[in-house]
Amino acid sequence: MEQYSAVILAAGKGTRMKSNQCKVLHSVTGRPMLAYVLDAVRNLQPKKICLVVGHQAQDVVRRFDSPDLNFVIQEPQLGTGHAVKQCSSLFKGFSGHVLIMCGDTPLVTSEILSAFKGFHESRSSKLTVLTTRLKNPYGYGRVEADRNEIITRIVEESDADRSQKLIQEVNTGIYLVQSRLLFELLENLKSDNAQKEYYLTDLISEAQLANVRPLAFHTDQDSVVVGVNSRNDLAKVNSLMWNRIRTQLMADGATLLDPATFYPDCGVTIGSDTIICPNVMITGLSSIGEECYIEPGCVINDSTIGNRVRIFSGSKLDNVEVDSDASIGPMAHLRPETKIGCRVRIGNFVEIKKTEVGVGSKASHLTYLGDSKIGEHVNIGCGTITCNYDGKTKHTTIIEDRCFVGSDVQFVAPVRVGSGSVIGAGSTITRDVPENSLAVARSKQKIFPLRFGQGMATKNEDR
Ligand code: UD1
Ligand code: CA
Repeated sequence: MEQYSAVILAAGKGTRMKSNQCKVLHSVTGRPMLAYVLDAVRNLQPKKICLVVGHQAQDVVRRFDSPDLNFVIQEPQLGTGHAVKQCSSLFKGFSGHVLIMCGDTPLVTSEILSAFKGFHESRSSKLTVLTTRLKNPYGYGRVEADRNEIITRIVEESDADRSQKLIQEVNTGIYLVQSRLLFELLENLKSDNAQKEYYLTDLISEAQLANVRPLAFHTDQDSVVVGVNSRNDLAKVNSLMWNRIRTQLMADGATLLDPATFYPDCGVTIGSDTIICPNVMITGLSSIGEECYIEPGCVINDSTIGNRVRIFSGSKLDNVEVDSDASIGPMAHLRPETKIGCRVRIGNFVEIKKTEVGVGSKASHLTYLGDSKIGEHVNIGCGTITCNYDGKTKHTTIIEDRCFVGSDVQFVAPVRVGSGSVIGAGSTITRDVPENSLAVARSKQKIFPLRFGQGMATKNEDR
């Protein structure tokens, strides 16, 4: 079997994106689009992978640096043909075939690449182009073919005349070329076209001149090869990718009540029999256990959720761990480094940051817990807050097991409450409380008798 290597083009700015960020770093369902192309290529186990970088090269290298990649700088960026040519020294002495891909086609799969390679091998081809048919081919290179599978020319949008623009068969930007032939033909490219660039697509006419017959391998899976050139394409690709992820999650046993309004990032996992309501977003490295129920309007990022957890509407969880059988929300905000234990109940309008809440504890309403450690089976009353910040530093509040905290309590940190203690409602706790004690820290109620007429206005006076 012949040897294969790959070249991925990622040096362009992506002018049509109108962005300060280079195109291949733009995110598709939570990952830079180039990451998907690399995954698909790596699956084929090529001998060598060359990544051509140029625009924001440092950022791309920083993000993708890995021992199996050879970075090649293209400076200035004079077109796709010029980009591939920059790799020539890396292919000296290589007699196999080169798979050429663009970094802006994130929907490409290793399955389609394998089929493409299979075709190229079976025809003993020296140059094969992966093509597809698009209802709206605008922006793509149009493929002219004279006989079955043999390409005569690829015409770019900006160079096409009216009849060429009607051609629906397009170049996907994916090629397999015999290495020596490739670098020989690249020497002949000219930039006498509308964009004044060295087009890789001119390989076709150069091959014809060298008596090589370029073949087309047509795929019907047109969505797999969509290229991202504009924000509109980016939205289209995101939506196709979301569909792919949703389909997989449902195949794995999750119920999506309205798949179209569930937005999972690539890599999110969901256990079987979990139900996801409409308008939910789960991003980053998140995993949701089995038999969970997630109500509308929840946003969960980089979080690990156990089994049978209920997350009620409008809750936001970022970088937290929630253990099994807990319930969260509605309208709860769990911030980074928070750990919620088994069977914990976090209710409405509760904000928790960098805090551990032990097994079976409850904070059911209107509470802020920051930089704290709450033991097991603790009850945190409504309106309790930890005063964790003195304007300069954050301090810790520790409330040990089985404490009962009444409503409207402030803990002025640093402070510790020993296990089994009770804090009276309305207390401002500034000093440590020993275990099994009652602490009350509020001013005594005073009673003053009113003379007749001093109190609330009567109904008549109101008018
Ligand atoms: C290219 C093809 C077009 C095809 C389409 C498929 C050419 C001339 N045209 O057009 O036939 O239908 O892809 O998606 O090849 N790049 C570089 N250096 C450069 C220019 C581009 O590395 O100097 C990289 C870009 O970062 C990008 C890829 O090459 O990842 C394709 O470039 P782009 O400008 O998007 O080409 P298209 O106009 O889409
Ligand atoms: Ca493109």
